[in-house]
Amino acid sequence: MTTNIDNGIKIAFQAISLLIFFLLQFPNHVAFNINNEPWLTTTEPEPTPTPWPEQFHALLYMNLTTTHLQLSDLWYDWPKGRNVNIFQKQLGILLYDIEWNNGTSFYYTLGADAQCQMVDFGVGIPRPDFLDGARYLGRVVTDGFLCDLWEKVDFIWYYEDVLTKRPVRWDFYDGISSHVMTFEVGAVLPDSVVQAPAYCFTELTSENEFSASVKV
Ligand SMILES: *[C@@H]1O[C@H](CO)[C@@H](O)[C@H](O)[C@H]1NC(C)=O
Ligand SMILES: *[C@@H]1O[C@H](CO)[C@@H](O)[C@H](O)[C@H]1NC(C)=O
Repeated sequence: MTTNIDNGIKIAFQAISLLIFFLLQFPNHVAFNINNEPWLTTTEPEPTPTPWPEQFHALLYMNLTTTHLQLSDLWYDWPKGRNVNIFQKQLGILLYDIEWNNGTSFYYTLGADAQCQMVDFGVGIPRPDFLDGARYLGRVVTDGFLCDLWEKVDFIWYYEDVLTKRPVRWDFYDGISSHVMTFEVGAVLPDSVVQAPAYCFTELTSENEFSASVKV
């Protein structure tokens, strides 16, 4: 049975964990060119992507492949070894996605019909320098910002503001597009928020299976 949380988990999995997997497991290789971008020429030396700050909070506007929309509160925290996405699906559920550097992720909702699923991906969260080795594609305007654009392993297209070096947008190979609305360097989510609820541990869970969602 496909439930809301199953769908949410699939999206989260596509958006984040495949990224981690691909970036960690695969070497760089030559990718196809995006030809429909209005490229702007630059005479400067080829730029490299700015590493992610070790801790930041970003509010993301996401357009999913289904053309459904969601907001994500992204709390990246490398020192604490966690990457948190709190997804607000348009007129839908609020889905917590807590990813730990030991490979375990928790997906859960709160309140009535709360559900939880624990998944062991076997890989940790993206390193701050996960874009190292990305291929520079050039300079484009996106979302109204002049950006440098890189691509890595045919999996992610990453737009960085030329002026401020902040991420503006990233797209995944499958069409999921994330637009950065706020970017607060150094912001940290309180630990209490990321504690997975008790029902993540009390019911039988089956790791690595999206169909094994637990009803409480
Ligand atoms: C979402 O993405 C699709 C495909 O790129 C596009 O046609 C649509 O206009 C986008 N919707 C919003 C609200 O951004
Ligand atoms: C990974 O860390 C989280 C948070 O500390 C913990 O809940 C989880 O059980 C750990 N997973 C493994 C496989 O040790």
